[in-house]
Amino acid sequence: MERKRVGIVGAGVSGLAACKHALDKGFSPVVFEADESIGGVWTHTLESTRLQATTRAYRFSDLAWPANVTEKYPSHCKVMDYIKSYACKFDLLRYIRFNSQVLGVEYFGATEEDIMSWELWSGWQRDSIRNRERWRKHVTIVGSGKSAFDIAAEVARVNGTSQPCTMIYRTKHWLVHKASVWGVELGYFYLNRISQLLVHKPGEGFLHYILATAFSPLRWAISKVIETYFKWNIPLQKHGMVPDYSFSYAMSACLIAMLPEGFYDMVDEGSIILKKSKTFSFCDKGIILQDGNECIKSDIVILATGFRGDQKLRDIFTANWCKRIVTGSPDTAVPLYRECIHPRIPQLAIVGYSESLTDLYASERMANWVAHFLGGSFQLPSIRCMDKSIAEWAKYKNRYNGEYYRRSCISTINIWFNDLLCQDIGCNPKRKNGFLAEWFQPYGPADYAGLY
Ligand SMILES: Cc1cc2nc3c(=O)[nH]c(=O)nc-3n(C[C@H](O)[C@H](O)[C@H](O)COP(=O)(O)OP(=O)(O)OC[C@H]3O[C@@H](n4cnc5c(N)ncnc54)[C@H](O)[C@@H]3O)c2cc1C
Ligand SMILES: NC(=O)c1ccc[n+]([C@@H]2O[C@H](COP(=O)([O-])OP(=O)(O)OC[C@H]3O[C@@H](n4cnc5c(N)ncnc54)[C@H](OP(=O)(O)O)[C@@H]3O)[C@@H](O)[C@H]2O)c1
Repeated sequence: MERKRVGIVGAGVSGLAACKHALDKGFSPVVFEADESIGGVWTHTLESTRLQATTRAYRFSDLAWPANVTEKYPSHCKVMDYIKSYACKFDLLRYIRFNSQVLGVEYFGATEEDIMSWELWSGWQRDSIRNRERWRKHVTIVGSGKSAFDIAAEVARVNGTSQPCTMIYRTKHWLVHKASVWGVELGYFYLNRISQLLVHKPGEGFLHYILATAFSPLRWAISKVIETYFKWNIPLQKHGMVPDYSFSYAMSACLIAMLPEGFYDMVDEGSIILKKSKTFSFCDKGIILQDGNECIKSDIVILATGFRGDQKLRDIFTANWCKRIVTGSPDTAVPLYRECIHPRIPQLAIVGYSESLTDLYASERMANWVAHFLGGSFQLPSIRCMDKSIAEWAKYKNRYNGEYYRRSCISTINIWFNDLLCQDIGCNPKRKNGFLAEWFQPYGPADYAGLY
């Protein structure tokens, strides 16, 4: 019998995981990759880019990092080597068509009106700066995400105090020097089952609701203790960089990032200047800040302002109605059932849109779930039920992700999410050995190894 074909767009970690799990289920995948190599964002990084999650968290479930990678946060080269070894181990390269950009995605076979009237989702179910040039110029960087901090540190290392670079930020974020406090990993506060009792969860029952409400002061207290630790250890107060929001909020909205080494030393010595401004404008010499008083001389302005994931998602579709509905309305979260299926867009799964503390972890779980679905392990519920579930998850995101709800961060309820995926595919969601480990040990990719 001819094997069913699955088209996958992109050969970053999400696409590779999707390809591997489709193969596991006996499908015939074709991966279209615009670039000439695998790895996605990891092929175009700054020289200084390192993994900012630990290797225990940023890994595929079925492939541990090699024993000779002993650093907790390996360099981007080592991440690329690891990704390549995954592709080699599971023989994925031969399914990839490099230099093949997908220009648009369209659904043939039914009209928009037909699709809008369906009660069941259709499709398968129906059938069953790497730039070594040293520019000593005046550089201004806009943004305060991980990229902005990394670029500022890299420029400062080259230019020093003679040509300080300026970082213009509008929001202060929790960039921290390590992922533990007093030797205890943050995962013990936010990524184990016990910590999930402290937050409201989508679709939770009465007992969970009561527990989350009763424990919310404890969550607040944990956040305060962690904030105090980081304020003691990083000179945030000295430089006016203490965020206006709590650490717990940062965790649940995926706003935590690792501070480049020696960043505040560079601020102290004057090779990085921090300027707060909500807006800015350009002038012939450089940049003028919101107050209009100061012109910051700039030969180069780098907008480290991130990307709009929802925009990218819309742009890939050809049909206007898909563009219109795929990301939902601007005032709520992107409407994807189990974070991957749009109930009204047939025969297409989106893996890796939602963010988590490590994106690879979330992407691989979704890829595994989609492969099980394709393989017939379970059926999707009616569109009405999917819409209901999406609404519950949107409520969670609006509540815990605040103004960043469009990023669909599920980090602090990733166990709750993975439990649902496990229930769908018919495997035991409790992945640890023993009561204590189950409740207190942080969950990670290795807990889901071997779910074929
Ligand atoms: C510098 C940097 C460092 C990061 N570090 C971390 C980290 O430490 N920890 C963490 O959890 N996350 C990190 N991230 C987030 C990172 O995005 C994810 O971890 C993960 O690598 C994303 O993989 P992906 O496959 O979903 O997307 P991508 O890596 O973006 O891959 C998408 C692929 O699709 C291809 N493609 C896109 N459009 C088309 C098209 N139309 N046709 C064909 N091919 C197409 C692209 O060429 C690309 O190869 C980092 C991101 C950046 C930018
Ligand atoms: N492993 C690594 O070393 C590494 C390196 C780089 C990136 N990453 C990851 O890659 C992802 C993207 O990171 P990123 O830093 O590129 O993007 P980002 O997290 O989206 O941050 C963008 C920054 O730009 C600011 N900004 C956006 N529009 C602006 C505007 N019009 N005016 C002024 N400021 C504006 C934002 O401000 P507001 O906060 O006010 O919105 C934010 O500070 C993250 O998940 C990050 O963790 C990882």
